[in-house]
Amino acid sequence: RDGSESSEKRVLLLKPRGFCAGVVRAIDIVKIALETFGAPIYVRKEIVHNRFVVNELAEKGAIFVDEIDQVPEGMRVIYSAHGVSPAVRQHSKDLNLKVIDATCPLVTKVHVEAVKFAKQGYSLVLVGHRDHDEIEGTFGEAPDVTQIVSSAKEVENLKVPDPNRVAYLTQTTLSLDEARDIIHALKEKFPNIIGPHSQDICYATENRQTAVKNVAHNADLVLVVGSNNSSNSNRLVEVSRNLGTNGYLIDNSEAIDPAWLETVSTVAITAGASAPEILVEDVVNYLRQKGFGSVEEVEVMPENVRFGLPPEIVQAIASAP
Ligand code: F3S
Repeated sequence: RDGSESSEKRVLLLKPRGFCAGVVRAIDIVKIALETFGAPIYVRKEIVHNRFVVNELAEKGAIFVDEIDQVPEGMRVIYSAHGVSPAVRQHSKDLNLKVIDATCPLVTKVHVEAVKFAKQGYSLVLVGHRDHDEIEGTFGEAPDVTQIVSSAKEVENLKVPDPNRVAYLTQTTLSLDEARDIIHALKEKFPNIIGPHSQDICYATENRQTAVKNVAHNADLVLVVGSNNSSNSNRLVEVSRNLGTNGYLIDNSEAIDPAWLETVSTVAITAGASAPEILVEDVVNYLRQKGFGSVEEVEVMPENVRFGLPPEIVQAIASAP
């Protein structure tokens, strides 16, 4: 860092940070559904991976369940932003559920690619984290021909019927650097492998990682606001640590260990795509109280993506009294 700087403790607030268009849309869907149809409304899995958001919606009357068979027959259910497999859609039909789909359109795009490649007879390699809700859904589109890899090392063990007919897809919230290495390993192993037209890692994941990359070297510590099951939030911590700047994932200011702030003069703050701004404000206020008097927003790139609401919700709004 610039040694001429005063010893003033400061906060750099990264932009873009926090809610992406898919999360805004998913939360709006639950809120509008509750207002229009009234509680209870069931939501399969956490609508987005943030504890605060889920608790807030639960207070308004949303009932979160892990699996479809926990929803009573004939009731209304919302699918989370991470998407669902065809088996879940079928299960909902069997139970006569009224479905509202809050899957992010950028996740749906990956599902469409999976179906297309599988129909064309390709073996699919899905790059992502096995235990993540999104991967469970995408995998379910073509489970017989899909294998999941989470590291370049795992690529070595892949076996496919025809090495000339292999396609890859990725989870939307991966680390760009890690995905690049894994795709490189895939291309070495299967020189004729094909992939999506444009990459599957979404704009929000990419922009938040780019912002950390641009600013981490100016900070002594990076705090990422987000819940620990949020994939894109975890990746932001990794990006910072890989650049040599210590980083932590925190749900809110209560998770900050004061010891982290000793000997630190510049803290960069960002937030995962599912973390609300109110929690960022909470962290900034905490740091102000700890003597970080200057708060500067650093906009690395503009971001103004918006997604429309699904037809089930548009129709419900139109026909509301
Ligand atoms: Fe969609 Fe990316 Fe957000 S896939 S839900 S825009 S993190």
